[in-house]
Amino acid sequence: MRNPDPIQQAIEILKNGGLVGLPTETVYGLAGAYNAPEAIEKIFTLKERPSFDPLIVHISELSQVSTLAQKWSETENILAKAFWPGPVTLVTEKSKNVSDRITAGLSTVGIRMPAHPIAREVIQRLGVPLAAPSANKFGKTSPTRAEHVRKEFGEALFVLDGGDSEVGIESTVIRVEESSSEILIKVLRPGVITGSSISEAIQSASTKPIRVLQEASVSSPGHSETHYQPPIPLVILSRTPSQDQVTTIEKRFSLPAFSRFSELNLNADPRLAARDLYAKMREISESGSKWMFVRRSLERQGEIWNSLWNRIEKASSLRLESSQ
Ligand code: TXA
Ligand code: MG
Repeated sequence: MRNPDPIQQAIEILKNGGLVGLPTETVYGLAGAYNAPEAIEKIFTLKERPSFDPLIVHISELSQVSTLAQKWSETENILAKAFWPGPVTLVTEKSKNVSDRITAGLSTVGIRMPAHPIAREVIQRLGVPLAAPSANKFGKTSPTRAEHVRKEFGEALFVLDGGDSEVGIESTVIRVEESSSEILIKVLRPGVITGSSISEAIQSASTKPIRVLQEASVSSPGHSETHYQPPIPLVILSRTPSQDQVTTIEKRFSLPAFSRFSELNLNADPRLAARDLYAKMREISESGSKWMFVRRSLERQGEIWNSLWNRIEKASSLRLESSQ
C-alpha cells in the first residue's frame, strides 16, 4: 500500500503490544493497550518512570467505564457527562481488569475520555482503552506537538500527528469522595477545568453541599516538587530582572557573565497562555539562551492561572519574587 492509513498502522502496533505517540487535546500521550502487560512495561521503561507513579487510562465511550471501575457513582456520572470528552481525569476504585502495574499498586484508577478526534478514533477502532502518560521522559516537559514526541523518543516510536494540542497542559485530576452529608471533590492536579466549574456542574444536578479541596501531592504519587522541567533554568520573577538579579542568577547556575537569556512571554488570556506554555519553554531552551524567566505579575491571577503557576513552579529552578 502506498499511503497506509496512519490510524490503522497505530492500531496494528497497539494490537501487538507496542506503543504509539497519541495526540490528545491536553498533551501528547505515550499509549499502549491497558490490557497488554508488555505494553505497560514498555511505557515505564521508555519514560524512565518510577513504578510508584500510576498511569491514567483513556476511553472513547462512557460504557467502557464499567470495564475499568468497580463502581461508578451518580456524581461521577454527572461529572463525566459534563466534562467528557475533555481534560478531566476521574480517579475511582478500579475493577480487577486493571492491573496493579497501571495503578502502581493503588486500589484506584484514573480514567479520562480525551476530546481529540484522533485519540478517540484509535480507541474506538481498537476497542480497548489505552493507558497513556504524557509522552515525555519522567520529570520533563510534556509534549504538545508530534515533533516534540519524536525528539524525546526517536524515530523508533510511531507518532500520530494530530497538530498542536489545544489545551496545552495536562488534565485536571480529581477524586470524588461522597458521604451522606456532602460531596467532597479532591483536586489532585489542577488544570483548565477549574474547581468552580466542577462545583457548578454538580450543583446543577445535586442538592448536596459540595466542597472542593486542592490536594496536590497527598494522593497523586507522581507529584514531586519538580516536574515538567525544561533543559535550561527557568526563573520566576515579579518583573524584568535587574542587573543584580541577573548576576545572582548567573552565579546560581554557574553561567558566565552576560549569558544570553530570554523571557517566557505568556498570553494575557490564561487559556491561550496554557496552549503555548510548553512549546515556548522548548523553543527558548533550543534557541541558545542559557536561562529564561517568566513574570508572575499581579494580573496573572485566577483559577486557570493557578493551574498554570502550578506547572510553572514545578518547571522552575529558582523564584526571585519580591513581596508586594
Ligand atoms: O492530560 C493528561 O492527563 C495527559 C494526557 C496524555 O491524557 N496524561 C498525563 O498522564 O498527564 P501523566 O501520567 O503524565 O499524569 C497523570 C497523573 C500523574 O501525576 C499520576 O500520579 C496521577 O495522574 N494519577 C494517575 N492515576 C492516579 C490514581 N489512581 N490516583 C491518584 N493519582 C493518579
Ligand atoms: Mg506527565
